[in-house]
Amino acid sequence: MELNLKNNKPIIFSGVQPSGVLHLGNYLGALTQWVEMQNQSNCIFCVVDYHAITVKQEPKELSRRILDVVKAYLASGINPEKVVIFQQSDITAHTELAWILNCIARVADLNKMTQFKEKACLPDRQGGSKESVSVGLFDYPVLMAADILLYNTDSVPVGDDQVQHVELTRTLAQRFNREYGQVFKIPEVAVRKQGARIMGLDDPTKKMSKSASSPANYIALTDAPEIAAKKIMRAVTDSSSKIKYDLKKKPAISNLMTIYSLLSGVSVKKLEKDYQGKGYGDFKKDLAETVKSFLAEH
Ligand code: AMP
Ligand code: TRP
Repeated sequence: MELNLKNNKPIIFSGVQPSGVLHLGNYLGALTQWVEMQNQSNCIFCVVDYHAITVKQEPKELSRRILDVVKAYLASGINPEKVVIFQQSDITAHTELAWILNCIARVADLNKMTQFKEKACLPDRQGGSKESVSVGLFDYPVLMAADILLYNTDSVPVGDDQVQHVELTRTLAQRFNREYGQVFKIPEVAVRKQGARIMGLDDPTKKMSKSASSPANYIALTDAPEIAAKKIMRAVTDSSSKIKYDLKKKPAISNLMTIYSLLSGVSVKKLEKDYQGKGYGDFKKDLAETVKSFLAEH
């Protein structure tokens, strides 16, 4: 599909890395927003393969995953007749603009970014430090800024972990415009109130992640419904057994309630009421059924 940018609809840009299986966090934090936006906006959804190679990739596996990401977009309800879907490395302007923005970005800007520090300490990089990450991983937010600024983007729908990168994009665009005149549109970030940070099923203090060491951390969009149901039944819970939403005191059940609420459309308040006097077992059984039917339908 070709974009007709002559209309007055806002321009939306976002992307997912083909670096692992897509999970419920990607879906609830990012993809559901995309699906909602595709009717009222000019949407551009990218598969950001250059971002994926900031950590080591197996070339054949990477090619397969690029297609898997596109399949996940379609299965989530993204309509290729309404939006543009493309592979980042097919458009050379992304890396060209990234270089120009590199000359505007400062080492101090990038040193403030938290993602590369987190990735430096992943389990498969034992003993890793922020000095040992690739220059590409350190520079990753500048390439993301190029992705966004290249298309005069108005809004960037992402999960909570990407907000810092969109803020950097705004900083770089404003700095460039101050120094060289009005070139870039300043984009806004779009983050869901609920679901912007889905936590791991095995550890509710860490976000659900593709790069988690155990598949018990996430529900992959490609999980067989029965497997996903088992993961829900085995998900970590908090100490007291009341079904109550309290992010500080009960992070595990609060995370499961968020997932349940977003998949079923039932508010968290209503869930609290419905499960009064019931325990985690009952709640998990129903959530497992909800997740099972979600996966069967998508
Ligand atoms: P990534 O898998 O890092 O390429 O992320 C793709 C999109 O999913 C981005 O918009 C992320 O912010 C979002 N996302 C990733 N993990 C989560 C999560 N655990 N909860 C909510 N959104 C997420
Ligand atoms: N950094 C994003 C992530 O890991 C992926 C991404 C790359 C992106 N370029 C983007 C997201 C531009 C939104 C807009 O999730």
